[in-house]
Amino acid sequence: MSCLGWFRKRSSKSKGSGSGSRGASGPAATTTTKVSAVSTSRSDDSGAVRPVSKSTGSTSSYRSISSLYEERGHGQLRAFEYGELQGATNNFSRTQKLGEGGFGSVYKGSIRPPDGKGHRLAVAVKCLNQRGLQGHKQWLAEVQFLGVLEHPNLVKLLGYCAVDGERGSQRLLVYEYMPNKTLEDHLFNRAYPPLSWNRRLEIILGAAEGLAYLHEGLEVQVIYRDFKTSNILLDQDFRAKLSDFGLAREGPSGENTHVSTGVVGTHGYAAPDYIETGHLTVKSDVWSFGVVLYEILTGRRALERKRPAGEQKLLEWVSQFAPDSRNFRMIMDPRLRGEYSVKAAREIAKLADSCLLKNAKERPAMTEIIDVLRRAVQTQADPVGAGAGGGGGGGGRGKRVDVAAPRRE
Ligand SMILES: Nc1ncnc2c1ncn2[C@@H]1O[C@H](COP(=O)(O)OP(=O)(O)OP(=O)(O)O)[C@@H](O)[C@H]1O
Ligand SMILES: [Mg+2]
Repeated sequence: MSCLGWFRKRSSKSKGSGSGSRGASGPAATTTTKVSAVSTSRSDDSGAVRPVSKSTGSTSSYRSISSLYEERGHGQLRAFEYGELQGATNNFSRTQKLGEGGFGSVYKGSIRPPDGKGHRLAVAVKCLNQRGLQGHKQWLAEVQFLGVLEHPNLVKLLGYCAVDGERGSQRLLVYEYMPNKTLEDHLFNRAYPPLSWNRRLEIILGAAEGLAYLHEGLEVQVIYRDFKTSNILLDQDFRAKLSDFGLAREGPSGENTHVSTGVVGTHGYAAPDYIETGHLTVKSDVWSFGVVLYEILTGRRALERKRPAGEQKLLEWVSQFAPDSRNFRMIMDPRLRGEYSVKAAREIAKLADSCLLKNAKERPAMTEIIDVLRRAVQTQADPVGAGAGGGGGGGGRGKRVDVAAPRRE
């Protein structure tokens, strides 16, 4: 699914730079750059790491991700030579290619461990598209966020490579390798066996814990901005790991309620209030989480042009099947072959509806979502609650808004 275009240009009052010059425009001769030596200033709406213009305009005094990165992040990341990554990926051979997204191609590789001893480590190397400054900013955001963030449900960044030379600039990222691809592959690609109900719940619970950490577990609030199935990587035990922090952004600080920003994200997942106003809050991520919950229940993508009219937009289609209604089970993924708890499925649909409330403030916090998901996992373990025909329970159904595919401007 493609990334959204820029819906709103940055307002002219947005701040430009912090200190120093940009790192993208490198010297003429080939140089490998250390991220601590690259400017952390940001001046456009993809900006993830500067204290940004906020709704009420007060000067930010809190510690930004870039200052945290300077303090403790960059010491932990390896600065790779380009040649080392060429060697690690067999010169970025097509046979090593794991996939391609909006930001560039990803290759499997192997590197020497940091101390040079023991077995080589399997890694995924992402080469960013040559998209000038924009690509550099996303790369820098990813380095700085993942240099600071640490959680079992976030992918681990091992290092990076930045080369500016006569033949252009290269920006690469080196992650731990995730052998089980993405949630998107397992939900929608028929080449993989269907994901069991239990596994779906465990994956979404892990992803929720990753998001809760970003929203509430740090000195700085982080808004992820690109929550979707293809950004949920799966490790050898199918544990969820959020990846792609190129669009992540610091949340509002002080008395501010939101961050004002241009709209980026992915069609089908971005919250309508964010698309309309450019006001970004953690509740924008909660909306996207609600979309993914319905994808997990139904095995259908948020947007699918190939389906009959009326079924192309997942949220529109499922709105005909209320969680407590008799026909609710019609939405469930046929690949589950009925092997799920209907009671838990109804609860999860209600949870999804609350994430998809029109009023962002009414959407639950990620910690509340985790509580509901844990109960659903428990329901599954409880034989009384399991099986077809389980009851519903209370709870109002959220009012959905139309999330027609957003326009590009
Ligand atoms: N750490 C990793 N380990 C193993 N495979 C990975 C890793 N990171 C990415 N991949 C693979 O590379 C593919 C492309 O990832 P990428 O994040 O570039 O694009 P995407 O998520 O599909 O799209 P978008 O650019 O919109 O985020 C993924 O679908 C996944 O299969
Ligand atoms: Mg991705």
